[in-house]
Amino acid sequence: MQKIIILDFGSQTTQLIGRRLRELDTFCEIMPYNKFPKDDKDVIGVILSGSPYSVYDPEAFQCDLSDIRGRLPILGICYGAQYMSHIWGGKVEPAGSREYGRQNLTKVDGRSPLFKDIDMGAQVWMSHGDTITRIPEGARVIASTATVENAAYEIDDKVWGVQFHPEVFHSLCGTQLLKNFVVDICGSRQEWSAANFVETTVQELKAQLGNDRVILGLSGGVDSSVAAVLLSKAIGNRLTCIFVDHGMLRKNEFSDVMRDYEGLGLNVIGVDASEKFFKDLEGVTEPEKKRKIIGRDFVEVFNAEAKKITDAKWLAQGTIYPDRIESLNITGKVIKSHHNVGGLPEEMHLSLCEPLKWLFKDEVRRVGRQLNIPEHLIGRHPFPGPGLAVRILGAITPEKVQVLQEADDIFIRALRNWKTDDGDILYNKIWQAGAILLSEVKSVGVMGDERTYENPVALRAVTSTDAMTADWAHLPYELMAQVSTDIINKVKGVNRVCYDISSKPPSTIEWE
Ligand code: XMP
Repeated sequence: MQKIIILDFGSQTTQLIGRRLRELDTFCEIMPYNKFPKDDKDVIGVILSGSPYSVYDPEAFQCDLSDIRGRLPILGICYGAQYMSHIWGGKVEPAGSREYGRQNLTKVDGRSPLFKDIDMGAQVWMSHGDTITRIPEGARVIASTATVENAAYEIDDKVWGVQFHPEVFHSLCGTQLLKNFVVDICGSRQEWSAANFVETTVQELKAQLGNDRVILGLSGGVDSSVAAVLLSKAIGNRLTCIFVDHGMLRKNEFSDVMRDYEGLGLNVIGVDASEKFFKDLEGVTEPEKKRKIIGRDFVEVFNAEAKKITDAKWLAQGTIYPDRIESLNITGKVIKSHHNVGGLPEEMHLSLCEPLKWLFKDEVRRVGRQLNIPEHLIGRHPFPGPGLAVRILGAITPEKVQVLQEADDIFIRALRNWKTDDGDILYNKIWQAGAILLSEVKSVGVMGDERTYENPVALRAVTSTDAMTADWAHLPYELMAQVSTDIINKVKGVNRVCYDISSKPPSTIEWE
């Protein structure tokens, strides 16, 4: 299949470039800046991403483009454009003032195929500290803004550089520009679609798996659910799914999701292991310790169940593309350890099968719809593997989980019932929401004639596109008032409700 290679120089928006290309029904792969796949005959074009570095930084990422130049169309974005100027006879210098934010194109060269159907005045988004003061040898300027003369350049119908970011939402002409590059210049046949993906993946899985038996761990989330339905379409009941209840799922989630899975015709074993998890978590308050215990117990329970399926040859996982991209972790710091299903014991000799490994999250949802998975499963908010355990501050008990489940259920129901102006529901406009029980904090309240001394619950709702950054959702006051009243009136043990108005960074989405 045709593909575009995106060379990653460490920009925060590299993945976004990938998603934009997929929206143009074009397959793309994100590779580290110095790992261009030389012998891949399917590559039809190359994009160089932005970078947190200046081309003059001693640590700046450099790569050899001599083998690509002239052979394949290249589009450099921001640092990508500056880097090409730097190495091909142009000049990059610190911008007098940082060139940041919204700008409009004041000059557009209509002869350039990159700017087809893009008019003067189009809005673009700049974000750089350096600027190109001299374009590369043989290049010509094809777009300018009031403050950035060399906003875009072209060399010989083969190389293009733009100092703005066409991939971000605020570059209103960005989709058109990327389409011009991908479809007109690189010649993409736009053959990457959900229907096509399902058809070819089912064929590939049939060929890969033959008559083998496969085990898959379901979490109730969209990735593992879509992976399971895809696999069952390929191999039917030779797929066995295992769904572990650690006791810290949402209210009624285990039974509701089991019912959904059975409705989808999946062969699922539900394991209620809550007692073991609660016992092992007794008295544990440290967040990382909680995660480690849950991760370890999860592997133990899953393995015990998996071992019973003695003829299994494969372990399938709902790993998606962002989990695998060898992204350049500039800071190298781990903020929180996220647990995934750990490795099965080696003696089981299982091979790994990851049918969604090329998909971004929104593509997983599109594939799910193609497979007729019900909307309430596909549109589900992400939910952390350790579940409500990381939303109870302090030690975990079944009683606290139950209190939190009730509060969380009231909040989530309200979001599902709240209609927005465009006829959708508020739940769908939010990346993720939930309640947090501040079980180590107590405050005074009054109910009827009684003094209360109970715990607060914090509500968290965020907007995001990938959970890397997030903003707190600006929920309607009326909704917050209704949820607060409902929680305090109906959930015993809670006498105060707060709303978390922190963004990520500097906070994180989960409290622990
Ligand atoms: P943070 O709290 O790091 O969360 O901003 C980012 C996203 O990751 C989810 N999350 C987890 N998912 N296991 C998971 O499977 C985990 O241990 C875990 N911790 C956080 C979180 O819900 C959010 O979507």
